[in-house]
Amino acid sequence: MSMSTAESTKQEAALVESSKKAAAYQAVKDYLKPEYRHVGIGSGSTVVYVVEAIAELDRDITSKMAFYPTGEQSRQLILNAGLRLSYIEDLPIDRALDVAFDGADEVDDDLNLIKGGGACLMQEKIVATSATKFVCVADFRKISPRLGTNWKKGIPIEVLPMAAERVLLELKEIGSQEPRIRSGLPGKAGPIVTDNGMLIIDAPFPPLLLPKDKESGVKGGNGEDGVWSVDALAQRLINIVGIAEIGLFHGHN
Ligand code: 5RP
Repeated sequence: MSMSTAESTKQEAALVESSKKAAAYQAVKDYLKPEYRHVGIGSGSTVVYVVEAIAELDRDITSKMAFYPTGEQSRQLILNAGLRLSYIEDLPIDRALDVAFDGADEVDDDLNLIKGGGACLMQEKIVATSATKFVCVADFRKISPRLGTNWKKGIPIEVLPMAAERVLLELKEIGSQEPRIRSGLPGKAGPIVTDNGMLIIDAPFPPLLLPKDKESGVKGGNGEDGVWSVDALAQRLINIVGIAEIGLFHGHN
């Protein structure tokens, strides 16, 4: 007997959940060392399992650690798990987080990431770049040869509301196909407003090239015909006035 569409969708969803959970538990087992004191906690549904895994560890060990959120969702996760909450701004400036765990929307062959599907990218980048070690916890759906291949919604970009329309125009000029201001949750009118009081633009681009593409003779990468490399696009985007942060996490591998 063949499986109904509803059954196979259910099975696929169960596989995704078990993969996220397995990745999260493995990441915590491999990368959370008992001697660590400062731990960054990212955002998204995979991170829920990261916090669950941490909460199951020996409290004698985790009670010596402080956990740093990347937004309201992870702040609540930390509190609900009974872990000690702290904030990046309270971390001494000469001290790095020992490790930060976070999810991703897409991961390419060079371990560049698209992040911000949950609209938390700016605080996520601050926490990630404040950590000695960044652990990206991602299931099989997230892996792709080039960013923009699987994640078609576009690169999440956090913008000042007053600049959003001008940024949209400039994104079109540099080759983004139909960039849009992200709208609110179902049943909620208006755009999504981030934890930082900003808007999110999702800007789709053709798949982003890597250094190995250039080496193998692939042409383009500097924006000609809208084709960009990861590095060149990241550089171009961050120079657009009104953009506060971009959801490209690159060059950290
Ligand atoms: C939120 C993020 C998340 O890490 C990313 O969207 C992945 O989420 P999930 O684990 O739910 O797939 O960047 O801004």
